[in-house]
Amino acid sequence: MKNVGVIGGGTMGAGIAEVIARAGSVVRVLERAEAVDAARERIAKSLARAVKSGKLSAADSAATLERITVTTDLDTFADSDLVIEAMPEIESLKLEYFTRLDEIVRPDAILATNTSSIPVIRLANATKHPERVLGMHFFNPVPVMALVEIVTTLKVDPEVVAKVAAFATDQLGKVTIESKDQAGFIVNALLIPYLTSAIRMYESGFASAEDIDAGMVHGCAHPMGPLRLCDTVGLDVCLAVAESLFAEFGEPHYAPPVLLRRMVDAGYLGRKTGRGFYDYST
Ligand code: 3HC
Repeated sequence: MKNVGVIGGGTMGAGIAEVIARAGSVVRVLERAEAVDAARERIAKSLARAVKSGKLSAADSAATLERITVTTDLDTFADSDLVIEAMPEIESLKLEYFTRLDEIVRPDAILATNTSSIPVIRLANATKHPERVLGMHFFNPVPVMALVEIVTTLKVDPEVVAKVAAFATDQLGKVTIESKDQAGFIVNALLIPYLTSAIRMYESGFASAEDIDAGMVHGCAHPMGPLRLCDTVGLDVCLAVAESLFAEFGEPHYAPPVLLRRMVDAGYLGRKTGRGFYDYST
């Protein structure tokens, strides 16, 4: 995978671009004109963090940045070997990019989505070659989290799956697991009901956010508590996954809590907007 394209330079897209460029590939990131600088800064900041902690040399950081171009021009993705879509969880937006990419890239290029809530087959079916489309689900923060979930569909070519799994393990140094194309895949099907249970507990006034989080950090050795994790993942993403789990399985415990909906309506999306269950504005 010499040339890799990433659609979207938000939290996930920037992290994906960083780990792939760190592994030596040339990476193009597609962003809206007004978000190009923010995407570049996001990547530079994360690399600076790795340099500061001694995980990356300054020279490797500079070389990594040189391999990344943030662009507004999708046509420059024509020579991509792999394109990973990491746009917000809006199906119509993702469908539009899969349709356009299918016309731009070579027929043997692989198209992946980082979606955490939309059935991958729907995106695959927007293309003329659904056999080359699969899910490549990264975890936040991407440079730190070891896992990539490879999501197969009813139409994907097993050789494409093997190629992407080998890329993720051998080139990116990640651990892979394989999931069928059902809501939540493996990890979010387990994680999101846990997070929404914590929101319900907080919503009912049963315990404070700090105590719920401290309980899981100090009682179960989780690196962060569930409400802080919601803030890290993004409340909009938590809501989208909860809605897709509820739509798929119809079981009440998958239904998103009212408070989660209201916080998303209010624009309290967590760390990325400065406010979620906690205040990050200072
Ligand atoms: N970008 C890059 N590196 C980061 C980072 C970021 N945003 N945040 C933390 N790091 C690095 C730090 O540089 C540090 O590296 P070092 O060990 O080399 O110094 C290391 O991670 C630990 O960071 P800190 O010491 O600052 O802080 P913590 O020890 O509290 O760790 C954490 C932060 C790694 C985020 C940890 O709290 C954690 O693992 N939290 C759980 C995260 C998680 O569960 N993610 C999965 C979410 S689910 C998901 O993404 C799927 C989606 O579809 C919903």
